[in-house]
Amino acid sequence: MISLLFALFTVVSAVTWDAPTPYDPVWLASVQMYPPAPAVNETRFWGFGWVYESDVEFRLFTRRNPYDFQVLKTNDSASLRESNFDFSKKVKVLTHGWLNNGHGPMPESIKEAYLNVSDLNIIVVDWGVAANVNYVLASYNVASVGRLLTQFLNFLIGEGVSMDDVHLIGHSLGAHVVGIAGAYVKKGPIDTITGLDPALPLFTLGNKDARLDKHDARHVEVIHTCGGYLGFASPLGHIDFYPNGGTRQPGCGFDYRGLCAHNRAHMFFAESITSAVPFTAVRCTSYDELYYTGSCRGTGETLIMGGFDIHYGKDGIYYLRTNAEKPYALGAGDPT
Ligand SMILES: *[C@@H]1O[C@H](CO)[C@@H](O)[C@H](O)[C@H]1NC(C)=O
Ligand SMILES: *[C@@H]1O[C@H](CO)[C@@H](O)[C@H](O)[C@H]1NC(C)=O
Ligand SMILES: *[C@@H]1O[C@H](CO)[C@@H](O)[C@H](O)[C@H]1NC(C)=O
Repeated sequence: MISLLFALFTVVSAVTWDAPTPYDPVWLASVQMYPPAPAVNETRFWGFGWVYESDVEFRLFTRRNPYDFQVLKTNDSASLRESNFDFSKKVKVLTHGWLNNGHGPMPESIKEAYLNVSDLNIIVVDWGVAANVNYVLASYNVASVGRLLTQFLNFLIGEGVSMDDVHLIGHSLGAHVVGIAGAYVKKGPIDTITGLDPALPLFTLGNKDARLDKHDARHVEVIHTCGGYLGFASPLGHIDFYPNGGTRQPGCGFDYRGLCAHNRAHMFFAESITSAVPFTAVRCTSYDELYYTGSCRGTGETLIMGGFDIHYGKDGIYYLRTNAEKPYALGAGDPT
């Protein structure tokens, strides 16, 4: 089915699809000619469900197999029981975004960081087949991949895994994949979802069923790094962090594709897992304070962004600065 749709899209081959140009209104306009990404229960395009089950692979990594994954198959108990999956350990599910796959820097760097700190069940969702197509098609595939991830999580629930022990982490389009997956699990809610610069083009604030929102897990935390262009600027979670204002990132130069800023979200998060130096953020009085000034003076309350143990705090909008280069975290000093 993917090839069928791909054929449909070659009709518009005059448009360059491989990557967006400089925070580029032309690329954005060419994408936005298409209807928004559908939710799981919407069938208004060419029908829903054009991602094959075999296009999405669930890959288990643990300290016993940090590099060679074991494939877990939905509804296949033997694949789980015969793997290194440890029912006494927490589960981190990592989902990449557009033009990426299971070997990309996100999830690789986050997996490596977690396994350095602790022995966990790391499950990398590889949906590369459905993500390495033009942006429009990839965004339309999000709901299908999300639904397949829901089925996988429901399978884990049936095998005895509690969603209290599950943390879903998604970057870009992958943030919406985990949001949709979380919304439909049968014995939820999922404990935590981390959305790393959730993708904006073809997603809207209005259609919550097509994107990550705060009802998809008990605790939804979002890191915004390319807000208003490749990522959402508007808050989507219980806690929304805006490193460096959340729109452009220091060290990214002109960043004509926006990809540098967009990728900072997973780089900050990966660093936060192992870093002794925290990403300390200040709480803004409101989203307006951040929106109108690009920064926040702070209410006096602080919260650490990311970390091995997620820092739950007061729901709200948080601002911090970072270094322009690795290591990015600035520590516990005045983050403004
Ligand atoms: C999809 O489900 C939501 C509620 O979960 C509902 O509000 C919406 O109308 C549904 N959309 C369609 C097309 O059925
Ligand atoms: C797994 O089993 C559930 C419940 O029987 C079913 O709804 C679902 O379609 C199955 N999924 C796969 C991928 O086999
Ligand atoms: C994890 O540990 C290995 C071996 O000590 C080290 O080479 C690697 O840089 C560490 N990775 C992270 C993200 O800390």
